[in-house]
Amino acid sequence: GKYRVVSTKSMPGTRWINLLVEQDCRLEICTQKKTILSVEDIISLIGNKCDGVIGQLTEDWGETLFSALSRAGGKAFSNMAVGYNNVDVNAANKYGVAVGNTPGVLTETTAELAASLSLSAARRIVEADNFMRAGLYDGWLPHLFVGNLLKGQTVGVIGAGRIGSAYARMMVEGFKMNLIYYDLYQATRLEKFVTAYGQFLKANGEQPVTWKRASSMEEVLREADVISLHPILDKTTYHLINKERLAMMKKEAILVNCSRGPVIHEVALVEHLKANPMFRVGLDVFEDEPYMKPGLADMKNAIVVPHIASASKWTREGMATLAALNVLGKIKGYPVWSDTNRVEPFLDEKSRPPA
Ligand code: GLV
Ligand code: GLV
Repeated sequence: GKYRVVSTKSMPGTRWINLLVEQDCRLEICTQKKTILSVEDIISLIGNKCDGVIGQLTEDWGETLFSALSRAGGKAFSNMAVGYNNVDVNAANKYGVAVGNTPGVLTETTAELAASLSLSAARRIVEADNFMRAGLYDGWLPHLFVGNLLKGQTVGVIGAGRIGSAYARMMVEGFKMNLIYYDLYQATRLEKFVTAYGQFLKANGEQPVTWKRASSMEEVLREADVISLHPILDKTTYHLINKERLAMMKKEAILVNCSRGPVIHEVALVEHLKANPMFRVGLDVFEDEPYMKPGLADMKNAIVVPHIASASKWTREGMATLAALNVLGKIKGYPVWSDTNRVEPFLDEKSRPPA
């Protein structure tokens, strides 16, 4: 191979490997056993000749790595993730390194996990499972693990981009929930879908579903029964859900986060879960991954899973393939499939959480 491409992790499937190897690349996959590579680990992987790198969201792609990559002759980096808060795109630009991410292939998989967490929280699946395994079930009772019926309730979506809209659609269509969403941009297709589905239900003599585009995030927090967070993480969404905003939510609301951990002030969340036993949360991401803030693991009203929202076989193979195509594209002069050239702030100034 003419080009040296490094992948900091082994990734699912073989298509991404074949793509690179068939097109003049010598691929080197890091075999280090440790889960999270340090900047120093990656510098030594890059070495003194490297044309492109496929990296992971656990890695800190800043000034140091992009200058090392540039010195090694590298022109391309792709995150194997749609989120790229771990990547300093300005630093990459400065060193002439193109940055790619992997949108699209994980939309439905991620939305499905958010839906799973919503349902699991509503029906207290994890608590009930633990109860069974502990041998505590001694017969059916009218009060046993009573949860809430989603039908007719309101689902709130904060950030109605690809994933947020897919999730909204699943909850509206699958469970006949009404929708309220907040986004700087109008989710026109989603609105049309809910309108059409509402008309369909009405024509069948059922209660139609409704939608509303909220004029503030607080409106969603106050009105929704199930709230799912789908913003990108940047300085405008850091600690978006804090003590004050948790207090605005219904006492029995369900909050789901499959975006990035720091969007929630996790210490405030633990306090809120302690004070409000009927408030439930489903978390795929954590403020300080892989750690949880003290007390979270003891809360029965929390469901916690280890950042697996994109973890379906089809999606992970797709992400690996897209990441390889991103790097290959830059090396070979094809267009790079990326969001990173049109980064928009998610929130306006007035919606920013107080510093
Ligand atoms: C996963 O968290 C991703 O951003 O793809
Ligand atoms: C519950 O199992 C019922 O039959 O209502």
